Amino acid sequence: RDRQRWRRLGGSLPACIEIDGHEIYGVQFHPEVSHTEHGEHILQRFAVEICKGEGTWSLEQLARETIEDIRREVGDGKVLCGLSGGVDSTVAAALIAKAIGPQLVCVCVDNGLMRHNEVAGVEKIFNSEFPDVELRVVNAQEAFLSELAGVTDPETKRKIIGRVFIEVFERESNKITGVTHLAQGTLYPDVIESVSVRGPSSVIKSHHNVGGLPELLPFKLLEPLRMLFKDEVRALGAILGVPHDFIRRHPFPGPGLAIRILGDITEERLRIVRESDRIFMEMLHEHGIYDDIWQAFAVLLPVKTVGVMGDARTYEFVVALRAVTSRDGMTADRSDIPMEILGKISNRIIGEVRGVNRVTYDLTSKPPATIEWE
Ligand code: XMP
Repeated sequence: RDRQRWRRLGGSLPACIEIDGHEIYGVQFHPEVSHTEHGEHILQRFAVEICKGEGTWSLEQLARETIEDIRREVGDGKVLCGLSGGVDSTVAAALIAKAIGPQLVCVCVDNGLMRHNEVAGVEKIFNSEFPDVELRVVNAQEAFLSELAGVTDPETKRKIIGRVFIEVFERESNKITGVTHLAQGTLYPDVIESVSVRGPSSVIKSHHNVGGLPELLPFKLLEPLRMLFKDEVRALGAILGVPHDFIRRHPFPGPGLAIRILGDITEERLRIVRESDRIFMEMLHEHGIYDDIWQAFAVLLPVKTVGVMGDARTYEFVVALRAVTSRDGMTADRSDIPMEILGKISNRIIGEVRGVNRVTYDLTSKPPATIEWE
């Protein structure tokens, strides 16, 4: 009713409703996001004091129940799990491995858009931690990069990557006999941001790991993490024995480095963003601040700027560094990495990565920006 007043109070505008003549009012806002002051307290009071919830839910219990559910659901069938190398699909695979062991087959599609050494790292972890689970790595870099050539629009990139992933995955799955179920590491924020619970709402970004595959493949869908947030998935991974280093890894989006190269994707640009990212991560580990950050990464901007190296003028790309703190990726604040460390990172990137002569740091929170640049 009083828009100006709401703006002054909250910054963003909640929707308000009034039931005519009854003096009953409602406001719509988001108590669950970490930026809402006292939001958790509001939810706690609602759940515990008003609804008399007993708070008996625990991740250990969830793990036990989910393992039982998976066993019951799969029976003597076979589960196919797409492994991206990230925390989510790995924890989903670990949970299913605990439930049905060798009845699980994992397929990791190397799309050429992964971080430095990522695929090799996944293979290593799988071979040592889940030796009874079959892991197939499919080299599909050429298929992805040729389809992405010349594409600059972020949503088009996502759609292409989603489609090619489905094609490659489908081809690979046809080679495996007896599959009854398809597992995905879909999390709750993916579900909220991609599809509304009640019909269409504004889709913020199309997360390709929700939808697509299930309609095409004749398998039943298994999404054991669908109701969990990232921090819960990490805690669950620890319970299941997934190595600490692996669990603490920053989230990495399905479309990978493709959405961290603004504009056109080329081998050259992939090399620049991959090397810059590797140096950024090395430095965060070296200074002991990697674990304080929700997500950090390098972005290649499709602009060139003038610089000077020795006596010569240079005209090369800009790399932006982004590091944020967050609880669940739904909202985020910039991470205040000390300027001195940022300076060292910048020096290393410019000194070691050919084709870059300027490094910037992104100061924006989410909202209004999103975490990724595309
Ligand atoms: P945004 O950029 O939407 O990111 O603030 C929130 C979280 O989601 C990740 N992200 C994606 N993950 N497919 C994914 O699997 C995607 O298309 C995608 N886009 C963003 C992002 O890295 C962050 O953790």
